[in-house]
Amino acid sequence: MTVKTETLMRTAVVDTLKKESIGKSVKVCGWVRTRRDSKGGFSFIELNDGSTFDSVQVLAENTLPNYESEVLKLSIGSSVEVHGTVVESPGKGQTTEVKAGSLKVLGYADPATYPLQKKGTSFEFLRTIAHLRPRTNTFGAVARVRNEICRSIHNFFQSRGFLYVHAPIITGSDCEGAGQMFRVTTLDLDNLPRTEDGKVDFEQDFFGKSTNLTVSGQLEGEIFATALSNIYTFGPTFRAENSNTSRHLSEFWMIEPEMSFCDLEGNMQCAEDFLKTIFSDVLNNCPRDMAFFNERIDKTVIETLQGIVSSSFERVSYTEAVDILLKSGETFEFPVSWGIDLQSEHERYLTEKKFKKPVIVYDYPKDIKAFYMRLNDDNKTVRAMDVLVPKVGEIIGGSQREERLDVLERRMLDSHLDPAEYWWYLDLRRFGTVPHAGFGLGLERTVQFCTGMGNIRDVIPFPRAPKTAEF
Ligand code: 4AD
Ligand code: MG
Repeated sequence: MTVKTETLMRTAVVDTLKKESIGKSVKVCGWVRTRRDSKGGFSFIELNDGSTFDSVQVLAENTLPNYESEVLKLSIGSSVEVHGTVVESPGKGQTTEVKAGSLKVLGYADPATYPLQKKGTSFEFLRTIAHLRPRTNTFGAVARVRNEICRSIHNFFQSRGFLYVHAPIITGSDCEGAGQMFRVTTLDLDNLPRTEDGKVDFEQDFFGKSTNLTVSGQLEGEIFATALSNIYTFGPTFRAENSNTSRHLSEFWMIEPEMSFCDLEGNMQCAEDFLKTIFSDVLNNCPRDMAFFNERIDKTVIETLQGIVSSSFERVSYTEAVDILLKSGETFEFPVSWGIDLQSEHERYLTEKKFKKPVIVYDYPKDIKAFYMRLNDDNKTVRAMDVLVPKVGEIIGGSQREERLDVLERRMLDSHLDPAEYWWYLDLRRFGTVPHAGFGLGLERTVQFCTGMGNIRDVIPFPRAPKTAEF
């Protein structure tokens, strides 16, 4: 990896660590992690540039003209540019090091005020300095694994002929029908225009109607799937639910494939293949970062991912799941009966204790699921599916969609939605309707699962949660 800068090519630290680089002249740049001085008149500087987990050891000798005046002043967080040669390292713990021919200080970081001094700084504290936390081992590793997951997601769909479709971020509809939306408005909140009956007059708002940030790109995804067959969206989504948990964000990224000519079976298979591909790509392409997570964050994370990649997911209907929970002998905080929405404790029992692997629960009661899910012949359940994984719980939610116009209209009315407002969605059923299905994967829950990180706020660069939007 060479990076062209204004003058010389910069060599990424990841490349200076390779045996093949021995003997090469390089320019390396980065931030100082540690400086150790030897009585023999030289210093070792650990330099990190984020290109990989490890730092490169730079050997700076006292023959450098600025050794006393500058090198000996370097502390953690300072940035430097080093020109030198990659040599075999005589020391333990690394194959190569860079012997500096010159070292230029780009910027000091005053140890008296630089906040990232101590090792083992808490994640809670690091959340208050979200502008500096990417410089830590953990957050660098999270950023690289998150990047790998995104690459894997695009590869998975692109290699299967799915088109990447961009759903709008500002919408006039509520996909999940749950009303947990952030309003988008340019109205003067101190002086709201009113209609004659005293309601806010959104005709005077920017878009001439009431608009919100999207909770899901699914409905727009269905528009493209019912023309182009297989598509996926991948974008930010927003939910104004007041959930202060380690698994909820107010702004998160969702991947939503939508497939025409596909039923729930095909949807479940796609979801399973998809997750396995992501996990195996992370294991294969991020070995160094994963070794760190396995050692420092969750000692079972690699073994868990490996186990999932090489076995099949469990599939149980909601009715079977309720039976299992009732017979489990566990005492749950939320009592179990047919018809309840499964709580996180129930989901975790199924995936962690009962099956010890990912579980797909399908055919949920219609009353606890969204209006667009296909009604089963029993008139009680819908072709919904949730994929549950240990520790995180629900990672995917999806369904086969209701493609019958009359049934869909009835379901909207039952859910207190006005079919007239969804005329365009109903048109997809009026004109050339087809069976179709899709699901949504939460990106952050996926990063959490792959890394073992306990709190979802630590796997997104700038978390948004109730009362939290500092950066
Ligand atoms: O189950 P959900 O609400 O499904 C939908 O939005 C459908 N429209 C998807 C579809 O069929 N196209 O959300 C899907 C996933 C969840 O399983 C979860 O992983 C994630 O999105 N998710 C959240 N992640 C973080 N914070 C939140 N508040 C989340 N809400 C949902
Ligand atoms: Mg869900």
